[in-house]
Amino acid sequence: MTTESLTRRFQDKIDQELKIEPKDWMPDAYRKTLIRQISQHAHSEVVGMLPEGNWITRAPSLRRKVALLAKVQDEAGHGLYLYSACETLGIRRETLIEELLSGKAKYSSIFNYPTLTWADIGAIGWLVDGAAIMNQVPLCRCSYGPYARAMVRVCKEESFHQRQGFEILLTLCQGAADQKAMAQDALDRWWWPSLMMFGPSDKDSIHTAQSMRWKIKRFTNDELRQKFIDMTVPQAEVLGLTIPDPELQWDEASGHYHSGPIDWEEFGQVLRGNGPCNAERLEARQRAHQEGTWVREAAQAYAAKQIEESKKVG
Ligand code: 3HC
Repeated sequence: MTTESLTRRFQDKIDQELKIEPKDWMPDAYRKTLIRQISQHAHSEVVGMLPEGNWITRAPSLRRKVALLAKVQDEAGHGLYLYSACETLGIRRETLIEELLSGKAKYSSIFNYPTLTWADIGAIGWLVDGAAIMNQVPLCRCSYGPYARAMVRVCKEESFHQRQGFEILLTLCQGAADQKAMAQDALDRWWWPSLMMFGPSDKDSIHTAQSMRWKIKRFTNDELRQKFIDMTVPQAEVLGLTIPDPELQWDEASGHYHSGPIDWEEFGQVLRGNGPCNAERLEARQRAHQEGTWVREAAQAYAAKQIEESKKVG
């Protein structure tokens, strides 16, 4: 079969909502963009543990510590799940890790912001995991089988993450005035970076159109961002907090909230490595990888011994 007919048959499968599996023929460009997106997603999960891990020893109660420990542990699992999904596309995990540690690979901009107070942990759960759920639920219907299936389990755990974050903020907002002020300060600092998680506007997105044709994306960046805003503004009202956007207002005609302009200059700076915590996050991952060398070597030695033993028995 010619590449042209293979490509036509590939797109027909996608148009019929059939999953593309690792052993199926796929255009190199499809494979390449999946490796790009899934690896960045995995890196985001792993780097995303850092801002939250900062508060595990500072959690205000045992209950909060346990919930945060469970959440951070989930994120680690999501990262490993997604690296495994990426490996089905024929790329080695070591290569992906090297790309992250060298600074070559992207991960979500949101994790380059500092967690300054305990309320930030609530804001991350409520806003960042809330945005992640908005982005990841459609990915459960992604055309690439391993990615879609990984997302089903990830989304179940994200729902717990979002609820525990919202509950942290609700507790603060129902507490003393300075606790509510801490929650408002966290919302002020995390609102706009959370909107940036959905990517550049559709007119500036280089991948969205093709990713929509391949049903990797089921909604565009702006569509998901709008859904997130529409869902989250009423939640802020329940908390009694003010969204830091003076232009935010309900538009009856469209049935959506109109929101003010995003600072794309800030977004671009963070993507270029000039965010508040980019260097710190990369250095932490490089240090962890170095300190984990003995664990990898021990695991590899054990695996080699097991293979030797099985050969003797075999
Ligand atoms: N942070 C960093 N880079 C971003 C970005 C962001 N928030 N948004 C877009 N970009 C990058 C893209 O990677 C692309 O760069 P590249 O060509 O070098 O890869 C460029 O900006 C253009 O953006 P596009 O919109 O054209 O790119 P995509 O089609 O890939 O869309 C995306 C970006 C919406 C983030 C998409 O990749 C996606 O849906 N990824 C899967 C979900 C994901 O990775 N979420 C990250 C957070 S994970 C998380 O929150 C964990 C949770 O447990 C807390």
